[in-house]
Amino acid sequence: MNEDLNRVVSLLKESNYTVAFTGAGISVESGIPPFRGADGLWSKYNPEILELSYFYHNPAKSWKVIKEIFYDFFGEAKPNKAHLALAELEKRKILKSIVTQNIDNLHFDAGSDEVYEFHGNSRMLICEENHRFEANRFDLNNLPPMCPKCGKLLKPDFIFFGEGIPELAYRKTFEAAQKAQVVLVIGSTGEVYPAANMPREAKANGATIIEINPEKTLFSNSITDVFLQGKASEIMDEILIRLN
Ligand code: APR
Repeated sequence: MNEDLNRVVSLLKESNYTVAFTGAGISVESGIPPFRGADGLWSKYNPEILELSYFYHNPAKSWKVIKEIFYDFFGEAKPNKAHLALAELEKRKILKSIVTQNIDNLHFDAGSDEVYEFHGNSRMLICEENHRFEANRFDLNNLPPMCPKCGKLLKPDFIFFGEGIPELAYRKTFEAAQKAQVVLVIGSTGEVYPAANMPREAKANGATIIEINPEKTLFSNSITDVFLQGKASEIMDEILIRLN
């Protein structure tokens, strides 16, 4: 691990264009469970609650679980050392941007600016007429929330299964995949597309892939050049110390 950490530090120092690609794993140490794995959310809840058709046919039922997972639970989460380290690397101009699959806002809360939210963000709610409102302006004990402007059903402004990826985030993500010389892949199984195409396209364009995860993933034996086995906050903190 020591040699790998030193190699990663050299790669980050030499790279002119480094991008991070983050998944649910980077927020686990902030108290947000991952989707997959032993105690993942999908082992407790049926993913159908995040299918667009199910949501519109069962708004109250779907909203009850969405509130439980993404508002009651996520609401208290704070950035951990991994989020803070990425924000520091951006400040030092070592990191250009972050592509995140996460909707928990923790990269922004940590102080990162250039963040592309590939699956949207839970902060806002949106109706079918594209009216958007801060989620915290609604009392989510009265479900489902309806749009104050047009009266239609409001949904969280994050991507449900079956929904298109936000256009700007998509474009910025794959521009980054073209330019990246190094990609830090942190806390993702690599199971969900099209997000998982980002590190793969970067690799195909010649980027070096550094992966941080306690377990191997679909990336590990296919595109990963340096696999740092462990928790995101511990490893990112160690990298920051060695960069000093
Ligand atoms: N540090 C780093 N990685 C961790 C940690 C940790 N402390 N704890 C767990 N992990 C890893 C797991 O080993 C796993 O590889 O984080 C990953 C979590 O995998 P998923 O839950 O599948 O998360 P992700 O890859 O982001 O899922 C992609 O699936 O349900 C959809 O839209 C949802 O954005 C999500 C997408």
